[in-house]
Amino acid sequence: MQSKDHWEQVYTTKASSGVSWFQDHARQSMQLIHQTGVDKDAGIIDVGGGASTLVDDLLEEGYAKVTVLDLSEAALSASKSRLGPRAENVSWLVGDITRVELPRHAYDVWHDRAVFHFLTAPAEREAYVQAVLRAVKPGGHVIVATFAEDGPDKCSGLPVMRYSADGLHAEFGAPFTLLQQEREEHHTPFGTVQKFIYCLCRKEPN
Ligand SMILES: C[S@@+](CC[C@H](N)C(=O)[O-])C[C@H]1O[C@@H](n2cnc3c(N)ncnc32)[C@H](O)[C@@H]1O
Repeated sequence: MQSKDHWEQVYTTKASSGVSWFQDHARQSMQLIHQTGVDKDAGIIDVGGGASTLVDDLLEEGYAKVTVLDLSEAALSASKSRLGPRAENVSWLVGDITRVELPRHAYDVWHDRAVFHFLTAPAEREAYVQAVLRAVKPGGHVIVATFAEDGPDKCSGLPVMRYSADGLHAEFGAPFTLLQQEREEHHTPFGTVQKFIYCLCRKEPN
């Protein structure tokens, strides 16, 4: 099954709160976004945001330029329905982050929880990093969360890569400085625990 078909099937057959990665609030992500110190009019993109509630909390706190990108239209529809009229204040993009052409230097903050780890082919990871280099402003921030080295080896039934903070930072290379790393024990709706690593990096000015 192609990746897009996989994700459309997930989001058309399961409730947003019934998937292993569900969080009622993306607290660690919000904490790291606060840590960047960006203003409320900063451009923030949630890559592979799915039906995450991160966008709800960003809007609630007054962040005015939020974009959510995902491969799955059904995932974004779920978020739009949940938000109601507030969804009109968000830019929604359907696309594959390894192929989409994002506007140059458009975002102050790039956020990804549990998406980069699906990129098992080096060429996909290279394309992803190129997208970050293009779309994030010089001096902007990149927050990427993946399964940690002691995390699961599959997510949504698909194989994933697992990372240490240094290993994850190495994928992005010299244009990025690792500012902070956080471990998280994510409690799934099924009562299991998944170990995540979050990295906050700064994209150095050219
Ligand atoms: C495990 S879910 C995480 C969703 C969300 N980030 C969260 O924390 O709730 C992975 C998400 O990545 C999306 N995705 C997978 N591969 C993608 C790709 N190549 N480009 C864009 N989105 C992708 C899926 O549709 C899905 O919504």
